[in-house]
Amino acid sequence: SSGRIVVVGSLNADLTIYCDRLPQPGETVHGNGFAVNPGGKSANQAVAAARLGGHVSLVGAVGEDPNGAMLEASVAGAGVDVSHVRTSSEPTGVAVIAVDARGENNIIISAGANGTLSPADVAGAADVLDGAAVVSLCLEVSTETVLAAAQAGHDAGATVLLNLSPYAEIPAALAGLADVLLVNAHEAAQFLGTPVPGANASVADWDGVRDQFARHGIQQVLMTLGSEGSVVLDSLAPAASRVTLVQATAVAAVDTTGAGDAFTGAVAVRLAAGDALADAAAFASVAAALATTRKGTQAAYPVAADVERRLRSA
Ligand code: RIB
Ligand code: NA
Repeated sequence: SSGRIVVVGSLNADLTIYCDRLPQPGETVHGNGFAVNPGGKSANQAVAAARLGGHVSLVGAVGEDPNGAMLEASVAGAGVDVSHVRTSSEPTGVAVIAVDARGENNIIISAGANGTLSPADVAGAADVLDGAAVVSLCLEVSTETVLAAAQAGHDAGATVLLNLSPYAEIPAALAGLADVLLVNAHEAAQFLGTPVPGANASVADWDGVRDQFARHGIQQVLMTLGSEGSVVLDSLAPAASRVTLVQATAVAAVDTTGAGDAFTGAVAVRLAAGDALADAAAFASVAAALATTRKGTQAAYPVAADVERRLRSA
């Protein structure tokens, strides 16, 4: 049996154009396909976790518009409890996304209803937050809302996961409430104010990075390294196992959008089930890789059997 995962944050309609290469500033390029998909980092995390077998509630806001209805249907259809997804007079959040032939993307988001999510919404979700095993957060809603959710999760004794995406500076109080920080290398470098090494760095180098995070009050970090895998920096582990490198899963990526959210959702599921951090990272690394092999985010996310099959064949 596993504990409840509560995701507090954003839902977006993803307006995606597929193209050979991403345009430069001032440039127009031809696309070769367009789709409207359910997205938003928090909705993606919630769906990823539910598809992997988690018991998930989402706290968020959508507009009273067709995009909002599409998102609720996608999230609820994955088995996520949406009783704390409310409507707003603002339009549903939107992401305008370009995806190139290698599956790389760039994204612009317009918050809309996500911008109305407030600490009052967190207070209103006490029924699910009080019993949470894991609370999963990202930075697509206001910092004060994220802070309130982190505090509620902490007070409930839940493990608070904080995905520093899209990157923003966070108050020290929020860093202090995060049990596990999830970052890519770019976000890690911004947070630390110094570049981070690549996947082939030595354990001693990674240990230095672990130490830098610990000085910010962050004891456990999962850093994704794109197609080079991920690294677990765990200051709470015995000295010999504070750095764990997780091998990349070789796949043919067609759309990397939302891979980080799949990673976070998968970590949430495995931590809610009682896994150690490094085991959760190994599972999540496979889930995130598989998510890149199909277009879109939520509909592309694997189920637990897909991940387990791939782990067994590794
Ligand atoms: O992480 C991917 C997500 O970022 C997309 O679904 C888009 O909505 C943006 O929020
Ligand atoms: Na994908």
